Amino acid sequence: ITVAPIQSSLMVAREIRDLILKTQKEGINCVLGLATGSTPVAVYKELIRMHKEEGLSFKNVITFNLDEYYPIAKEHNQSYNYFMRDRLFNHIDIPAENINIPDGTIPKESVLKFCEEYEAKIDSVGGIDLQLLGIGRTGHIGFNEPGSSLLSKTRIINLDKKTRMDAASDFMGLQHVPKYAITMGVSSVMKAKKIAIMGFSETKAPIIASTIEGPVTSECPATFLQTHPNCTFYMDLAAAEKLT
Ligand code: F6R
Repeated sequence: ITVAPIQSSLMVAREIRDLILKTQKEGINCVLGLATGSTPVAVYKELIRMHKEEGLSFKNVITFNLDEYYPIAKEHNQSYNYFMRDRLFNHIDIPAENINIPDGTIPKESVLKFCEEYEAKIDSVGGIDLQLLGIGRTGHIGFNEPGSSLLSKTRIINLDKKTRMDAASDFMGLQHVPKYAITMGVSSVMKAKKIAIMGFSETKAPIIASTIEGPVTSECPATFLQTHPNCTFYMDLAAAEKLT
């Protein structure tokens, strides 16, 4: 728990930097699982600063984003593809071929195959070393909405009404928010060697209390993280308010 979100964000950015430097020394790749939304923005900002001011290189970094709306064009300013380029990838030296984001443009009949390949690709590079997560008011991680099982894999899902309402202003109205998304599953997330989940502000306080102190249940998929061997929750004071 930190007083302000920025302190948590700097801690997470430093952890990512340390992992990148360690893997570079060892001559291996660094595989990161990444999230979008407002929560990780300051982490990405700090990573860009580290790249520009401290010469941190991302040449050995391979990334897998958690999710993407479906359907959505890559150029749409609310697509997660756009978000990642705008907030991180355009400003660092990561090779384009190392970037993986679920594709919101693939035809329906190819979605299943795409999801299987996404999952296989994560395994083929040795799995995720560090997974970044935010948390939704529904208790979702990625877009694993309530009802998602521990065994769920990368797949297409229906977005919860609450989640779509939270996105409504960004899309200029609920009717423009996509109804579906492609998301890594709970099991895909749980396979990560290390997880850093972040939640800031009083709007997240109730769901954070359930996530950390409530029973492990698919009604709040984030509670599955209680059973992960190496997961750290970063939050500010306001978000910690409802913890006992
Ligand atoms: C985004 C994602 C979501 C968000 C969550 C919180 O890639 O997977 O689970 O992390 O909806 O969103 P913000 O950070 O906007 O409050």
